[in-house]
Formats: sequence, C-alpha cells, structure tokens
Amino acid sequence: MNKIKKIGILTSGGDCAGLNAVIMSVVNAATRQGWEVYGIHDGTDGLTNRPLSYEVLTENNFSNSPWPRLSGSYLGSLNTGVKETPEVLAQRFGEGVRELGLDAVVVVGGDGSMNIVSGYCKAAGVKMVGVPKTIDNDTPLTEFSVGFNTACQACTNALDDLMLTARSHHRALILEVMGRDAGHLAMHSAVAGFADVCLVPEIPYTLDGIIAKLEEVKQSGRTSALIVVSEGVKTETGEAVTGAVNMVGEKINGGIGEYLSNLINKNYKGFQTRVTKLGHVQRSGNPTSFDRGLAVVLGAEAIRLLAEGQTDIMVGLAGGKVTSFALDKVVEAGTTGLNENSPYVKAARAIGIYVGEK
Ligand code: F6P
Repeated sequence: MNKIKKIGILTSGGDCAGLNAVIMSVVNAATRQGWEVYGIHDGTDGLTNRPLSYEVLTENNFSNSPWPRLSGSYLGSLNTGVKETPEVLAQRFGEGVRELGLDAVVVVGGDGSMNIVSGYCKAAGVKMVGVPKTIDNDTPLTEFSVGFNTACQACTNALDDLMLTARSHHRALILEVMGRDAGHLAMHSAVAGFADVCLVPEIPYTLDGIIAKLEEVKQSGRTSALIVVSEGVKTETGEAVTGAVNMVGEKINGGIGEYLSNLINKNYKGFQTRVTKLGHVQRSGNPTSFDRGLAVVLGAEAIRLLAEGQTDIMVGLAGGKVTSFALDKVVEAGTTGLNENSPYVKAARAIGIYVGEK
C-alpha cells in the first residue's frame, strides 16, 4: 500500500541547467499521486536552519510560468562548505523533516550531495530518492547527469566563437572549462568543438607534447589552434595551480589556463596564446532538449519508484536505459572520472587531438 502523503524536494550543490524541469516533473507526478510537495529552499539549509524555509508547490507554480524552461534553481541551492558538524546538521535535518511531516525527500544533486544528504537521511531515518545533476558528469553509476549536456553545448559554442578570432589573429586560444576533478566536460567539448589539444585531470601531459601538437598545426599550414583545459588540471609535475579559497577555506579551482598560456608563450614562438576562462556561464543557458527530457524522465521515475515503495536509491541512466541504483553503492563509488578508454578519449586520439600521454 502506498503510505506516502507528503514529500520534500531540494536542489543541492552547484546549480546547472535543467533543475527546474526536474522540480516541475516531480511536482506534477507527485501531485497526480495525490501527494503534497514541499519545495525546500537553498538545498539542505531550508531544513537545517531555523526557521525552516520552504514553500508548498503545486502544478500552478510551473504550468503558466517560464521556470521549467530556465536554468538556475527555482528553490535555490547550496554549494558552500558549512562549519557545523555532520552530526549536528543531520539532527537538524531530521527534526526539520519531522516538523514538516515529510514521508520522503527527493534530492537533486551531484556526487557530493548524494554522499552528504544521504548521510543526513540515514542518520535521521528519512527516506530519500536521488536525481543526479551536475555539469561535471561525475555522479557515479549513471551515464549522464542533468545539466552536463547544456554545459557541453556552452563550451562547444565558446570554441566555435574562439575559432573565428583565433583565425583572424593567428593565435592559439586556450579555453579553461569547469569540471572540478573530472575531465568529462573538457573532453566532450573538445571533441565536439574540434580542438587541437585537450588536457584533463585524469591524463598526464607534457609541455613538449602540447608544443609538438601546435607545431604540427603550424606545419600543416593552419594559422590558429584551440586548446581546452579542464580547471582541475595540475602542472606537468603535479602541483595544483589554484591559490584561491572560499569562505570556509576550501580550494576554488581555476588558473591553469593562465599558467599554461605563460608557459607556452615562454617556450614556443609559433603562436601567441590568450586565455578564456568560461566560468559560471557553463552552469546557465537554456537547458538543451536532451537535458530537459532527461530531467522530466528522471523526475517522473523518482516518483514512480517512491510510489512503489522504493527508497534509498538514485535514479539514472545505464546502457541507455532508465534505472536506479542503491544509494549505498553510489556513495561507495565516490566520483566517476573520465576513463582513458572512453570513446571520446579514443576518438580524440584517433583524429589527432593531443590529450596527454598514453
Ligand atoms: O560542481 C560543479 C562546479 O561548477 C564545478 O565544475 C566547479 O569547480 C564548482 O562547481 C564551482 O563551484 P562554485 O560555484 O561554488 O565556485
């Protein structure tokens, strides 16, 4: 028998395109089961801060509004380290859930959120279903997370634009993209944007390798080149480039593009380099059709499984099929980096993109 009467939904971690389509899908599917849906504000903050911060959501919130078509999160999200201990937060989270009378919580998040929020839920005895989202595409077990495709499109568009100015000025232009410690976004965009070099955190590279590729481009008669570098890439000898930290002292990625540009300019005179750090526009922009579709499918699947009585799972895609994974397994898997044997890495090497050393 279906015992659920009221659920919460929250978005957690860095935002991305498609979150509002997930929220709309969950709200519509759940209210059509006869359930009430509470939208929790600002990730877990809405349940761990006092007073609680939430709103009751109905189909009316989205049916005559542009929100499901837009990026950002209607509910707000939380991507900053917090000072309270996980035990204190889990306790407040559980109290918040009980105060609102929620029978389960749908958590739209990436690898970090699946780990942290499932920890709170476990400690507080709260039922959870996860929906994966992140531009980094590093949520384990699922092939794709909501938001990744739109971010790839933003990076590919940037490469198309950069190619034109690179050609005018006979330059090698460097595009630094996000992705944290995973190279999926960089590699997918470099392949789709026909870059010459793509550096990712998972594959070691050499300056000589980069320069050899640029020289090959020059010798071919082409007068410009494109380099994609993922923000998590380190120096050739493995040191992190970033010095920036957030307000609780956690490392902020970024700066490898500038570092490489200086290095190339110092050691190679074939092309002048310039850097574009694409930044947070990768997290925004109109969600692509793929991301909207994935958002709707995974949101509806989360509710279908909850209605069947399944909890402590994350929905996702495997082998092109919609499925679900035990949250314990997701947490155990940690983060999924780019595999050297991925078709994208293989294709990049096959068509002559320098992606680092074998
Ligand atoms: O995880 C998503 C992401 O956009 C990463 O690619 C990036 O490193 C990080 O979040 C940036 O976070 P913030 O917006 O907190 O600087």
